[in-house]
Amino acid sequence: MRAVVIREPGGPEVLELREVAEPSPSSGEVRVRVRATAVNRADLLQRMGLYPAPPGDPQDVPGLELAGEIDAVGPGVTEWRVGDRVYGLVGGGAYAEKVVVHARAIAAMPARLSFEEAAAIPEATLTAYDAMVEQAGLGAGDNVLVNAAGSGVGTAAVQIARALGAFVVGTARSQDKLDRAAALGLDRGVLPADGRFADAVRAATGGRGVDVVLELVGGNYLEEDILACAERGRVVVVGLVGGATAGVALALLLKKRLRIFGTVLRSRPLEEKIAAAQLLGRRIGPLVERGAVKPVVDAVLPLDRAGEAHRLVASNATFGKIVLSV
Ligand SMILES: NC(=O)c1ccc[n+]([C@@H]2O[C@H](COP(=O)([O-])OP(=O)(O)OC[C@H]3O[C@@H](n4cnc5c(N)ncnc54)[C@H](OP(=O)(O)O)[C@@H]3O)[C@@H](O)[C@H]2O)c1
Repeated sequence: MRAVVIREPGGPEVLELREVAEPSPSSGEVRVRVRATAVNRADLLQRMGLYPAPPGDPQDVPGLELAGEIDAVGPGVTEWRVGDRVYGLVGGGAYAEKVVVHARAIAAMPARLSFEEAAAIPEATLTAYDAMVEQAGLGAGDNVLVNAAGSGVGTAAVQIARALGAFVVGTARSQDKLDRAAALGLDRGVLPADGRFADAVRAATGGRGVDVVLELVGGNYLEEDILACAERGRVVVVGLVGGATAGVALALLLKKRLRIFGTVLRSRPLEEKIAAAQLLGRRIGPLVERGAVKPVVDAVLPLDRAGEAHRLVASNATFGKIVLSV
């Protein structure tokens, strides 16, 4: 089969489309003929040698999400038949024609989506839903702040929060991305000025502040998050594209009784990956089926242009996801 292999740690040019051995499903596993995958920031870090794949997952083939058809089933699998259309997360290896995954760690693809659209859903929506709703307890009537609202995860978060009845404030560093996010349900867009956005976010919520922050930028945004929070707010740190350290006003943490915590999807154990697939099937799938959450695809490139896809994501110019057709 063909797969994109990381030849050695380095820039986008180290991604090479090659013939590699086809994986076989073991007991309880299925093999998926991947029709589309999508690019994540983690893939860029993995390519640079900065974020190795979890043990047991392919080390030199990136790719954390896929949409495709079941191509073979291992012994003991009763959930799926060859030809079923599925989508979901894997620990790596999705920049390839075939991937093996545990039969319960994958979900049925919403019927209304193409493979390219479906590949844009799993990582973005699961990261957003798991962080905001499952972990930070976002609900109807809450105020939420989504930083980097035009990112893959951000565009999913805006739609999910809106669908759940929250009031959604978001930041991005261009008015164009804020305008496009508004079309997805962003109630108020804020352009940070010299990295500051807390006053504008508080004003957008009538002075009350936000109950939940989905922090996709990290770095100094954390200080502003704390200022933007309502009492008993929760800040969930998901991404660090803006920096991996922050100065935090501890007195405000106490005064407002805030909670700040971090999360990651890729390195979770199998049980939690199965739980994530169930979330995708039972909670996110219905939102997608009724059009409340739409895939946001900036561009679709063929697999042999994975390097160009990485350059696009690194440029920060993308809105939503970059998809690779396989
Ligand atoms: N923890 C997890 O399991 C998990 C899973 C998925 C993603 N993530 C993280 O979540 C974040 C979003 O991921 P994604 O794939 O959706 O990203 P993406 O689509 O590549 O978008 C990232 C956006 O962040 C903004 N940005 C970049 N550098 C910035 C800076 N220094 N200051 C402010 N904004 C900056 C840019 O938008 P503007 O120029 O418009 O501001 C950029 O387009 C990333 O940090 C990623 O690593 C974490």
